Amino acid sequence: MKINTDLLHAYQLHARLSGSYEPQAMAHISPIYQTTTYVLEDFDTAVYLNQHVDEGFVYTRFGSPNCDELEKKIAHLEHAEAALAVASGLGAISTAVMSVVKAGDHVVFGDVIYGCSYALFAKVLTQLGVTYTRVDTTNVQEVADAIKPNTSLVYVETPANPTLKISDIAAISEVVNQHEGITMIVDSTFASPYLQNPLDLGADLVVHSATKYLCGHGTVTAGVIAGSKARIDRCRMPYLQCFGAVLDPFAAWLLMQGMKTLGVRMERHCSNAMKVAQYLEKHPKVDKVYYPGLESHPTHEIAKKQMHGGYGGMMSVDIKGGMDAVRTVMNNMKVFSLATSLGNVDSLIQHSPSMSHFDMTPEERHAASIFDGQVRLSIGIEDVDDLIADLEQALALI
Ligand SMILES: Cc1ncc(COP(=O)(O)O)c(C=O)c1O
Repeated sequence: MKINTDLLHAYQLHARLSGSYEPQAMAHISPIYQTTTYVLEDFDTAVYLNQHVDEGFVYTRFGSPNCDELEKKIAHLEHAEAALAVASGLGAISTAVMSVVKAGDHVVFGDVIYGCSYALFAKVLTQLGVTYTRVDTTNVQEVADAIKPNTSLVYVETPANPTLKISDIAAISEVVNQHEGITMIVDSTFASPYLQNPLDLGADLVVHSATKYLCGHGTVTAGVIAGSKARIDRCRMPYLQCFGAVLDPFAAWLLMQGMKTLGVRMERHCSNAMKVAQYLEKHPKVDKVYYPGLESHPTHEIAKKQMHGGYGGMMSVDIKGGMDAVRTVMNNMKVFSLATSLGNVDSLIQHSPSMSHFDMTPEERHAASIFDGQVRLSIGIEDVDDLIADLEQALALI
């Protein structure tokens, strides 16, 4: 071959011209398949695999070895038949939701959920002819009463962002199962598979923003969906295939590294958060602490029954003095970073009304106990005394 052909084909793995060869190295960590397309053995294989994209690799938007590895791991951790990797938590939620709702349907979801998930229902799906009812999903009767003949989805976020309300997945699933054709999706991001397995409690699909605890280091934006093979196949084809929110192989690879330490991280997140919550609960400048591990939390008993191994690393705090007090605290934190997101190894502080929940109206926020004087803390794995000292010095400045 001449130089320009050689530049492309010589010693290229799988290239026919140079004769394909198998890699000899047994990599300890999986390689990153940074490729958009896959060489198919012959015409018949190409025809077959395009009809059966979960049985091989054709094109990275349909699946990749790095995503496949991640999906198998997530399915295992969530006790599911199958899982799907998506490019963000919202990508996972919108893909899962769109795979079950159609024009004319009605959806029931919680009065406290992540702001952009709320926007998906309230601002996007309404334009496609889908109606909704928001209820307090910690009250199972409210869920039951909201179900209509055209309800196709009950969507539950637990623990809920940002007030950490815990909904009883098993009890809601019992209500849902009394009706034909209703799917129950649970956003279990705040718990991670380490603390909660919604499918075991009767949910049909579980979604996570893998950007948070699953990754753990704030380096990847990703989402996952887990459930039965039939449901996941439908999410993949045609929904993910058409929406195109696929996870990049490098991001899937990074997530695989992050997940190795999920257990040790969650244990430290939980024990640190419990200590911080107990400290803040007694603080004279604090009105209220929302942490499901505290006995004072209204849904502590459900959390105790439903979550295993701890109550997570997230909490919200009403600071006396409203927005001005919040500004003082947030501008003076030294160990906590003023940043949205959560579940990172390092601690973060945000103002939920103006950051994660800006999509809701002030009236909707107040009705959901998301007050202007409220901050949300994502407790990291630092030495807890340093976190408490940081809060102490900032609160003292009010
Ligand atoms: C509970 C919950 N679900 C989903 C999301 C969306 O995740 P992502 O930002 O990865 O799209 C978030 C983001 O904060 C969240 O808090």
